[in-house]
Amino acid sequence: MVISRKVKNALEGASWVRRMFEEGEELKRLHGAGNVFDFSLGNPNLEPPPSLKKALKTLADEPIIGMHRYMPNSGYSETRKAIAEYLAEESGLLFNENQVVMTVGAAGGLNVVFKAILDDGDEVIVPSPYFMEFKFYIENCGGQIRLVETNEDFSLNVMEIEKAVNNRTKAILINSPNNPTGVVYDQTSLKKLGEMLKRKNRELGKTLYLVTDEAYRRIVYDGVKMPIHFLYYPQTIRVTSHSKDLSLPGERIGYVAVSPLCEGADELISAIIFANRTLGFVNAPALMQRLVAPLQKNSIKIREYEEKRDLLYNALKSYGYHVIKPQGAFYLFPKAPIEDDVTFVKELQSKHILTVPGRGFGKPGYFRIAYAVEAKTIEKSLPGFKEVAEKYGLKGR
Ligand SMILES: Cc1ncc(COP(=O)(O)O)c(C=O)c1O
Repeated sequence: MVISRKVKNALEGASWVRRMFEEGEELKRLHGAGNVFDFSLGNPNLEPPPSLKKALKTLADEPIIGMHRYMPNSGYSETRKAIAEYLAEESGLLFNENQVVMTVGAAGGLNVVFKAILDDGDEVIVPSPYFMEFKFYIENCGGQIRLVETNEDFSLNVMEIEKAVNNRTKAILINSPNNPTGVVYDQTSLKKLGEMLKRKNRELGKTLYLVTDEAYRRIVYDGVKMPIHFLYYPQTIRVTSHSKDLSLPGERIGYVAVSPLCEGADELISAIIFANRTLGFVNAPALMQRLVAPLQKNSIKIREYEEKRDLLYNALKSYGYHVIKPQGAFYLFPKAPIEDDVTFVKELQSKHILTVPGRGFGKPGYFRIAYAVEAKTIEKSLPGFKEVAEKYGLKGR
């Protein structure tokens, strides 16, 4: 069997998240699912809002004629209109339905955006640590990922981004709230980023795009107000989904929104719609488009994730782990007490705790805990985290 060399290489460097998830399945087989604490995959444990299930039942009982047919590649007008209204209210910008394209989740959205904007060899700058799939999405479209470091506290380092910009740069991709760190990029850094990009456009005589992955946008804590990225730079493209905020990751529903202030927006949107069609997505799932349209202001109970964050964060701190308190998403990204994150993750595994080594996100020496799990899983895992901390000499309080 001969498969593509590129894919063969990608398979050989298999995803750490998947690897840990699969090892976890084996542990569960051996010890029973209740005795394994699986923090490997960012798979929301909360159920979608009851109103969504009710609307689903109504649609099944009273189907709309033609509701399973093909539609425009950008999606249903009524859904895009609902999203545009929401975006206009949120940002104060004049969004209309033509600036929104429905996609197969945020993953589908990122692929169509990169297909629309990248030529072979173009670079996309990504602050690290980062969601590893970005590399594949960019490479799928002939581009190259260029990683830049964030600050010690994982905040944006605009100077590092600026140093990385060159003639081949086409876009900057930021993800906030961030997977794997949970960090929310603040207004000051976004303002600096926007100013730097405008300056670079003038210097290079070209237009750089800011692509914002906002899959966790509504999952923020401590009363944090998420900055509106559109307001800091006109060439901004938001990619997001309802995988996390409505707990629908298996349903594959998301969208891309191009800023009304973006230069050449019409051509860009046509390119995104073309990519949606020709990458084979054709359009986002029909049923889901109808269901999410009226739910633009709804979300699962964010407070439940916040309580889980508090439970786990406070416990880990008290055992002496070095960890930044995340303001969003559902991940913690503590420092491993030894340099070798893989060995440390194996140590946790010996206590039936499944996490992912930081090198799976471009940051060896750390590990990721995805805490979108039942509270009792967190509670039962704590003695294991404590024992391992003690073994490695962490000083608890
Ligand atoms: C940062 C980030 N972007 C995109 C995605 C993909 O989201 P979706 O399920 O909407 O495709 C994920 C999924 O975990 C993610 O963590």
